[in-house]
Amino acid sequence: MPLYSEDIIEEVRSRNDIVDVISQYVRLTRKGSTYFGLCPFHNEKTGSFSVSPNKQMYYCFGCHAGGNVFTFLMQYENFTFGEALEALAERAGVALPKQEYSATQRMEADKRARLLEINKEAAKYFFMLLRSERGKRAMEYFKKRELSDETIKKFGLGYSDQYSDDLYRYLRNKGYEDEILKESGLVTIDERRGGHDKFWNRAMFPIMDVHNKVIGFGGRVMGDGEPKYLNSPETKIFDKSRNLYGLNFARTTKKPQLLLCEGYMDVIALHQAGFDNAVASLGTALTSGHANLLKRYTKDVYLTYDSDGAGIKAALRAIPILKEVGITTKVINMKPYKDPDEFIKALGAEAYQERIDQAENSFLFEVRILEQEYDMHDPESKTSFYNEVAKKLCGFSEKLARDNYIEAVAAKYMIAAEDLRRLVNQYGLKEGLAGAASANSDRQQSGIRGNEKNKGRKKEDGMKQSQKLLLTWLIENTGLFQKIKKYITPADFTEEIYHRVAELLFAQYEESGTVNPAKIVSMFENEEEQSEIAGLFNATIPAAMTKEDRDKALKETIVRIKENSINHRSKELGPTDMEGLMKLVQDKKALEELERMHISM
Ligand code: GTP
Ligand code: MN
Repeated sequence: MPLYSEDIIEEVRSRNDIVDVISQYVRLTRKGSTYFGLCPFHNEKTGSFSVSPNKQMYYCFGCHAGGNVFTFLMQYENFTFGEALEALAERAGVALPKQEYSATQRMEADKRARLLEINKEAAKYFFMLLRSERGKRAMEYFKKRELSDETIKKFGLGYSDQYSDDLYRYLRNKGYEDEILKESGLVTIDERRGGHDKFWNRAMFPIMDVHNKVIGFGGRVMGDGEPKYLNSPETKIFDKSRNLYGLNFARTTKKPQLLLCEGYMDVIALHQAGFDNAVASLGTALTSGHANLLKRYTKDVYLTYDSDGAGIKAALRAIPILKEVGITTKVINMKPYKDPDEFIKALGAEAYQERIDQAENSFLFEVRILEQEYDMHDPESKTSFYNEVAKKLCGFSEKLARDNYIEAVAAKYMIAAEDLRRLVNQYGLKEGLAGAASANSDRQQSGIRGNEKNKGRKKEDGMKQSQKLLLTWLIENTGLFQKIKKYITPADFTEEIYHRVAELLFAQYEESGTVNPAKIVSMFENEEEQSEIAGLFNATIPAAMTKEDRDKALKETIVRIKENSINHRSKELGPTDMEGLMKLVQDKKALEELERMHISM
């Protein structure tokens, strides 16, 4: 991980005007001091995506993506912070200081680079063979599976020759030694018989990482035969649980969700049919590594696994893994066809889109599969089913979600919602689940509690909004610092990240009499934080306000922030903390004074 100084980072940032950079990706039109365009991060027709030359930041009022020029490349190209920095340094002609690596680090890096080279050579070779006389049968195979020339090219499909040391000899001729070839997983070396190819006489599917680098292969027999697919073993560059087939294309989709399938052919068929959001795990079950990878690109995953028993089992395993990282899952029904490839061949893309639109909520899917284990005509079996479902419903710790699911299940499985709720609460009490227990039989009481909780949350959101508003006002009108600094300090921003940002912002103003919010954004390396900070500097300020209204709103906002800060601190104040107590008394005085004051923008 490259570590560069703040100065270098700031130099690179300031030499890449955000409007210039984003204009290479998005068509922007100027409205007043701000540029607008269609957001590249979600599907829209209205143009909620704004780029401010003054702030050197972008922000989407629709999906809340935002940040500085680094964030943009991180989100659009899925670069890491380091990669975005390097790309923009190159664009602006800024020389980055060389990183110092240890000898072992350098050797590891060299080895990885050579393994990538070998995979790339192999892919090029298979690609060429497919188009030669020797690859005729493979080409016919792909054509039989209705792949267009364009698709074959896009996915870099190829053919491995029928001689079982063909690739080995080719790579040896290119100068690669046995030792590194062995590590590539593409050949095995036998002491007596020499090198042997892992793949021969197969239709070849190169597997690429998100940067379009070939890291391994899948190879299919053409016709019947065992095993149907062979896959590269894991190597230094091929980690099956951290890569997904097709993600190099799907990562830039504009569709709101990703489609997760089982097979290479499914991914290819879906992309060919216009579903550029399809990915698959690499001949292995879904892992939490995959889930975390998916999470970088989407919150919504639609499973489009095989319709058979194995596919259903795989889906049931995948759902909790996705849920664990915060991904919402739906399940696509492809019946009567086996997989997306066969479905699309039979019914076409439009019919498949309909199935996407009708995809089933993953919880209801789980319940539906569960029901198949029970005989709903038998009272005892039926009761067991309801009990199992009630147990599952306890998994929703939020009352609102739990209630909604109780109602959905009740309506579908012909049980009164009240009865099901009682069952859920029984389980909740037994299991001691805090969430479910609070919704216990005394519903009136739990209703009140639920309301209070909601109110609490609303208040909290209102406070966040006030703190955002003040930060936005401060950067848009730096004269405000002088007017408010007697009353408000960074310590009054009670939200953790707001507090850090306020400290940086106030320090900038103290030092230079001006502010540089885009620089603050790059002090945070993680893309989610960067977007959140962009949000703090882009609070929505109602445009059609009179000057009086604005002054009134300003004063109310400051008073609210101060009050909140005082309450917050008095709750946390230790009994012997004299200093803290003094500060509180002072602040209460300041608040009284503030309430009598007139402050204007
Ligand atoms: P097609 O028959 O080509 O349409 O295959 P499919 O895409 O329908 O594949 P299937 O559902 O049979 O398998 C899904 C995925 O599991 C494949 O893409 C492979 O990654 C993997 N797979 C299938 N068969 C084998 C096998 O025999 N061995 C191994 N290691 N992996 C397999
Ligand atoms: Mn198939």
